[in-house]
Amino acid sequence: MTATIIDGKAFAEKLRGRVASHVERLKAEHGIVPGLAVVIVGEDPASQVYVSSKAKQTVELGMASFKHELPADTPEADLLALVHKLNNDPQVHGILVQMPVPDHIDPNKVIDAISPDKDVDCFTPANVGKVQIGLPGPVSCTPLGCLLLLREHLGSLEGLNAVVIGRSNLVGKPMAQLLLRENCTVTIAHSRTRDLAEVARRADIVVAAVGRPLMVKGDWIKPGATVIDVGINRVPAPEKGEGKTRLIGDVDFAAAVEVAGAITPVPGGVGPMTIACLLANTVTTASLINGLEPPKDLTV
Ligand code: GUN
Repeated sequence: MTATIIDGKAFAEKLRGRVASHVERLKAEHGIVPGLAVVIVGEDPASQVYVSSKAKQTVELGMASFKHELPADTPEADLLALVHKLNNDPQVHGILVQMPVPDHIDPNKVIDAISPDKDVDCFTPANVGKVQIGLPGPVSCTPLGCLLLLREHLGSLEGLNAVVIGRSNLVGKPMAQLLLRENCTVTIAHSRTRDLAEVARRADIVVAAVGRPLMVKGDWIKPGATVIDVGINRVPAPEKGEGKTRLIGDVDFAAAVEVAGAITPVPGGVGPMTIACLLANTVTTASLINGLEPPKDLTV
């Protein structure tokens, strides 16, 4: 039996619909237009694509988009000054500085400069702490997207064994925290974990977020488990023509789909959810900044 394919594209579309209706309501009832500022430093092509996509979808949902493209040699002080300006701009409710930043800029200083009230990435220590103790606020976009997909597919996650592979601040750590809040028994595995295959095989839920193409094999998956593949790895695809590439996940999909109960594809799984969650977070912060209750159907 092959696994159910979890359609992240379709679910992201539904989430965007809910975001759009809250944007309408904020405008009509409170005269608030949620605004998202996206800052990119340098010309990394993949980052450029993400940032353009973020700006486009922001506008599509009726929000205000402020895009700041800075040259790769922008001094750190100039970037920090822009962040401070955005912190004080009443039209801006969310600030996202696309990572990674060039080597001469300290990402931690950038994160520290962002007002926690506008931190739609949930990168600041204040917001990381709020997620940990369950206070309202933005939730890391990719983990939020993963959890919404898991809840949609499984309903309650209570008591399930969840194994998160990867311990990044961007995905692994916040994902583990959210699964713990759902009453899962959570294991965080990483590159130094012994017997990783055996650890993964105990999981009812596997979240793969390591950034290594096809690392998670079919025989690492317990029959019937739910597999969430966060990996977005661009690899050469000579079969499509010279110089062509394609996206593959951290999971060997072809093998895992034969064992798992459900699995997210790459592309079309977690990826589309991340931007939808960013826009949901912008409505959350716009609400909180204005003293309003954040919508319950945009978060976890
Ligand atoms: N680079 C890759 N993913 C992300 C993200 O979610 N937020 C930011 N700021 N940068 C990223």
